[in-house]
Amino acid sequence: MQPADRIADLKPYYFAQVGRQIQQMRSQGLDVVRMDIGAPDMPPPEFVIKAMIAAAQRPDRHSYQPYGGTPAYRRAWAAYYQRRFGVQLDPQTQVVGLIGSKEGIFHLTQALINPGDVVLVPDPGYSAYAPAARIAGGHVVYMPLRAENGFLPDLDAIPHDIRRRAKILWLNYPNNPTGATITYEALERAVAFAREHHILLAYDAAYVDVVLDPDAPPPPSVLQVPGALEVAVEFNSLSKRANMAGWRLGVAVGHAEALRYLFLYKSQVDSSHFGPLMDAAEVALNDPRMDAWIAARNAVYRKRRDRILTLLTELGLTAYPAQAGMYIWAKLPPGVESLAFTQALLQHHHISWAPGRIFGPHGEGYVRISLGVPDDALDRALARLRAAHTLPGLPAREV
Ligand SMILES: Cc1ncc(COP(=O)(O)O)c(C=O)c1O
Repeated sequence: MQPADRIADLKPYYFAQVGRQIQQMRSQGLDVVRMDIGAPDMPPPEFVIKAMIAAAQRPDRHSYQPYGGTPAYRRAWAAYYQRRFGVQLDPQTQVVGLIGSKEGIFHLTQALINPGDVVLVPDPGYSAYAPAARIAGGHVVYMPLRAENGFLPDLDAIPHDIRRRAKILWLNYPNNPTGATITYEALERAVAFAREHHILLAYDAAYVDVVLDPDAPPPPSVLQVPGALEVAVEFNSLSKRANMAGWRLGVAVGHAEALRYLFLYKSQVDSSHFGPLMDAAEVALNDPRMDAWIAARNAVYRKRRDRILTLLTELGLTAYPAQAGMYIWAKLPPGVESLAFTQALLQHHHISWAPGRIFGPHGEGYVRISLGVPDDALDRALARLRAAHTLPGLPAREV
């Protein structure tokens, strides 16, 4: 069978591939510690689970639900944006519920991009933006994120003919994979750039509530910038805020016309969520107990981050201390290729880190280490690495 041309060049999704490899190793009895994927390992709050169970026991909550989420789910996101960011949203026109933000990223791109349109994608960046653009026939132009620039793109370096052809500009902070955060002033510049060049600013805020340094300013929403509602769509989700990744509860907020096209496309594809999930989401968004729960969860990630950073220093690797998000981005020594390194780490030490290359060409030479690893598994991984005389491509050490 011949696949459609639009998927003929797609590469297998890395995490699906490495997941199969790890499953095979585990079936042989090997203790593989998975630190590659950004999946929260801890459960959601008990009171959110209870709200879901209570709703599931109601006979009237099992039918199809309104496309793009129940009115109450949309209102709950609007209330969260008001409280967390001081941003006022109309739940009818400026909020669309998503089955996880990943599908919204894909659908928005399909709804807006014609063959040949340019999509500006951070490099390295979350691995959903570029394939979505290519499936739509769009032309991906990478914006390098360099350490010396705080892993922010240099918008001034984008050539004028590219600006003219660009229809979507992706930004994501707190950033996957680098752990970088963005300032409000940089967001203002991005909004001004999008306005000047008539580009939709698509802002991915999936990690906005995963704050590792409580004393740092809380990560902003792009919609806090005055006028952003006219140029930006923001993606958000309960996956990382409330450890609810498998529940698939996301949202797109902002620019009403863009959201209308997203909704038009999306409502041909799915038939909304299971009602009780959305009922519980209202609790995960706005229940007053959430702030303390999030602070305690973030403290666990912070401790893991610090333990991993200490180990990386001992190993002689340069790492960027993330202030937010779920990842540590570490630089490999010159000449060490990221996929070869992570594969060797997996084979010899049964530890899986993500090769930087999968996040874009400028990810080469780096690895991404996830904080979503249970503490006992982290203990084993750190002990194994400390005991190793050599790591692939690194000079031998005294142990
Ligand atoms: C930057 C970023 N955006 C979006 C997502 C998708 O999250 P979800 O579809 O679970 O909302 C992820 C998942 O890891 C991510 O890293």
